[in-house]
Amino acid sequence: MARLPARSSFLKFSGTDLLRDLDLTNDELVALLDLAVDVKRSPTEYAQVLAGKSIALLFEKPSLRTRLTFELAIKQLGGDSVFCEGPVGGREPLKDVARNLDRWVNGIVARVFTQETVEELAEWASVPVINALSDLYHPCQALADVQTIRERFGNLQGLKLAFLGDGNNVAQSLMITAIRLGMDFALGCPQGYSPNPETVAQAEGLAAISGAALAITHDTAEALRGAHAVYTDVWTSMGQEREAAKRKKAFRPYQVDDSLLGLARSDAIFMHCLPARRGEEVTDAVMEHGRSAVFDQAENRLHAQKALLLMMLG
Ligand code: CP
Ligand code: NVA
Repeated sequence: MARLPARSSFLKFSGTDLLRDLDLTNDELVALLDLAVDVKRSPTEYAQVLAGKSIALLFEKPSLRTRLTFELAIKQLGGDSVFCEGPVGGREPLKDVARNLDRWVNGIVARVFTQETVEELAEWASVPVINALSDLYHPCQALADVQTIRERFGNLQGLKLAFLGDGNNVAQSLMITAIRLGMDFALGCPQGYSPNPETVAQAEGLAAISGAALAITHDTAEALRGAHAVYTDVWTSMGQEREAAKRKKAFRPYQVDDSLLGLARSDAIFMHCLPARRGEEVTDAVMEHGRSAVFDQAENRLHAQKALLLMMLG
């Protein structure tokens, strides 16, 4: 007879989908981070929680970390996954794709070009949908990132996270997640590459509640001053390849090298969601620096997503 899962008393997700970071309540976010710690420490305690459950992974764009960590997380929790690569809704309407999947699987993890695609999938599918990166957000990345920062510093409240580069999907999810957890967040970006105003307004609202400070600036020194973590991401995200030359020029002053890292606190960690383009947004020396946390972040994708799957589907 199958052994009952040893741990099944974790907080269940009150919503259905994780399409944007704010779909998790503050309490759920804090509980998820605690659960991720336990999952990391005692993985075998959760080995059967998803037994009998199947999850579809629909990816419109390439992936190393997100695909493999979801596949491994699902397997290590006792579930099964199926993977499908290509345009979601390319051959038939999205609403039909959603209602096919509904009949076969217990959840959908989708990496898409536009936020509308994941929203429409969720509208038509009755099973939970997880955003595995869209043009606007990368919520699973932000979960692993705050888990990593907490591991390094022991807490989050009162720390400062500085993001240098594009106000993109990763920056937007981090901004929302850091601010609501009481971390100061500064984004240093060239003119024209700020996060979208709606997300900034949301972050300002959250800052008023948490007491954290939010700064969007074009001044790298201002963004980095007092930072506990210095984060960057590629200058050209998937789908923006035609803008690569223009972006390379605009972002050049924002490359994280030893001298920019030196403007943060002397114990500041370096973070990157990966994949990284050494010589563009970051130097090889900073990637390989003793304070680089990039592979801890990659590892924590597995643990944070396990916690997410447990709360959504366990
Ligand atoms: N960081 C991240 O999402 O990596 P992949 O694109 O490899 O999934
Ligand atoms: N901003 C990057 C993140 C990749 C994980 C992109 O969207 O391509």
